Amino acid sequence: MSVTGVRFQLHDTPEALAEVVAARVLEAARRAIAARGRFVLVAAGGRTPLQVYARLARARLDGSRWLVLHGDERCLPVDDPARNSHAIAAAWLDPVALPPNNHLPIPAELGAETAARRYAELIAPLLPFDLVLLGMGEDGHTASLFPGHPMPEDEALTMAVHHAPKPPADRVSLTPRALAAGRETLVLVTGAGKREALARWRDGAGLPVARVAEAAGAEVLVDAAAWG
Ligand code: 6PG
Repeated sequence: MSVTGVRFQLHDTPEALAEVVAARVLEAARRAIAARGRFVLVAAGGRTPLQVYARLARARLDGSRWLVLHGDERCLPVDDPARNSHAIAAAWLDPVALPPNNHLPIPAELGAETAARRYAELIAPLLPFDLVLLGMGEDGHTASLFPGHPMPEDEALTMAVHHAPKPPADRVSLTPRALAAGRETLVLVTGAGKREALARWRDGAGLPVARVAEAAGAEVLVDAAAWG
C-alpha cells in the first residue's frame, strides 16, 4: 500500500505496532554502531511513541553509543512533565541510564527563537541522522509542522513555531529538510482519531506529514483503528 515514495504497513493493535518499531530501532542502532560507531536517533514527541520507549527501556542496549535528539519541543520549563524531553526521559532514558550527554533536548525553555538557533548548531554536524521517528496529529501535522503554517524554503534545520493549534502555542521544530534527512524514517499512526487525516493523506492532500514522509521515503506504520 503506497502513496508516492511512502509505504504503509498495517498492524492490528498499537501494541503490535510498538513491538515492531522497538525492534526496528534496535536493529537500526546495531547497524549504525557497526558502521559508524554511534547511533543518532531523532525521537518523536506526543503519546503514540511512548509504548515504543517503554519497550526500549526493557531492552539491553549500550546507551554510550546512542545520541537521542528531538524532532520538536514545547516551549515549557525544563522540568515540565508536558515537555517531550521529560516524557521520553521518564519512559525510557532514565530507566536505561543513558549517559546524560547522550540525550540532547531542545532548549525550548529559552524561548522558540533562541532554542531553534542553538539546536540548529548542535544538530548540523550530526546529519544525516540514522533514524527519524515521527508521529502524526489529527490535522495531519508532524513534529511541530502544522497545516497552514509557513514552511522555510531555505537551508534551515530548525524553526520557531508560534500560534500552534495544539497547545502550547510556542514550540520549536526541526524543519521538513532536517526531518527528511534520516537514513531511515518511520511514521507512527495509531487510533481512530487519526483516520480522517490518514484518509486525506492517502487521497493526496498536501499535509505536513505527507510532505516530510514523501521527501524522506518513509515507512508509515498504522494500526487498524487509524486505517479504518
Ligand atoms: C508534539 C508532537 C506532535 C505529535 C502529534 C501526535 O509535541 O505534540 O511532537 O507532533 O507527534 O501531535 O501526538 P499523539 O501521538 O499524542 O497523538
